[in-house]
Amino acid sequence: MANKKVKILGICGSSRRMTTDRAMEEVLEAIKEFDWVETEYVHLADYTLRHCTGCMACFGINAPADEPWHCYRFPEDQKGLIIPKMMESDGIILGTPVYGCGATALLRMLIEMTPFGYYTFTKHAGAMRHKTLGVVTVGGADIEGQETTGMDLWRWGLRLGMMPVACPPTRNDTLPVASVSGAFLSTVDSKEQYGRESVTKEGTRTVPPTQGSRNMRSCRNLGREMVVATTAVKLGLQTMRDRGMEIPPTRPYKYYSVKYKSGSYVDKLMKEGKVEAKTFK
Ligand SMILES: Cc1cc2nc3c(=O)[nH]c(=O)nc-3n(C[C@H](O)[C@H](O)[C@H](O)COP(=O)(O)O)c2cc1C
Repeated sequence: MANKKVKILGICGSSRRMTTDRAMEEVLEAIKEFDWVETEYVHLADYTLRHCTGCMACFGINAPADEPWHCYRFPEDQKGLIIPKMMESDGIILGTPVYGCGATALLRMLIEMTPFGYYTFTKHAGAMRHKTLGVVTVGGADIEGQETTGMDLWRWGLRLGMMPVACPPTRNDTLPVASVSGAFLSTVDSKEQYGRESVTKEGTRTVPPTQGSRNMRSCRNLGREMVVATTAVKLGLQTMRDRGMEIPPTRPYKYYSVKYKSGSYVDKLMKEGKVEAKTFK
């Protein structure tokens, strides 16, 4: 692939440019070794995000059909800037510090309300289907939520039809590694608990600095496996299309039985005859 044909987006859910940012850097650097892959990086600290209040103004039953997706409740919310980047990507890596055994509120504010769910009635429902999903979780303690936080993030993606990617040991970064499922990292052995290099070999206080080097190996392995999985899925889908093998299209509903506003996306689907109203009309 001479041209860059595969795009992988990294999203960091920390409010700081510290350990998670450093770990994401390692993952993305490993990806950049593959010349057909383009990377983009979004740090959520650069965006104003607000929590979802459940007003559902952005749902396809309410929002004007032809407006780009955005948060109507909080006009200052900038999820609308990130969502197109997610849609343009073939694979996404979510990175988060472990806060209270879960993802940060900052990351949750992005992922708890995206228009990709099959129940949102939006034109973007299903847009995450067949994209790969890698996870990086960084905890200050050894086993205090890294894995369960990663599983929560995978769960979020599974619901949208995404494909979780592991980080098996590779030729360049063999065992022992921090983890082989997602990149589940710890900074408990670091020289400086909350420093940027805490997650690295250089930032580890023990001799030999096993924790940091294992962390970084897992980051690089995740990057490589994201490349392989994302490329394989993208080429596989393209081959299926080229050979006329059917990929069943996403179609959340045949009938709508919810109230919808005039001018909304659902109204548009009704008028185009793509869905039928069951109860309300
Ligand atoms: C509010 C808060 C809650 C935390 N909760 C956990 C936790 O449940 N488990 C854990 O291992 N580390 C926990 N930590 C430690 C952070 O996950 C750890 O320091 C991480 O490296 C911070 O990432 P950052 O440097 O990218 O901000 C917590 C830190 C903070 C500030």
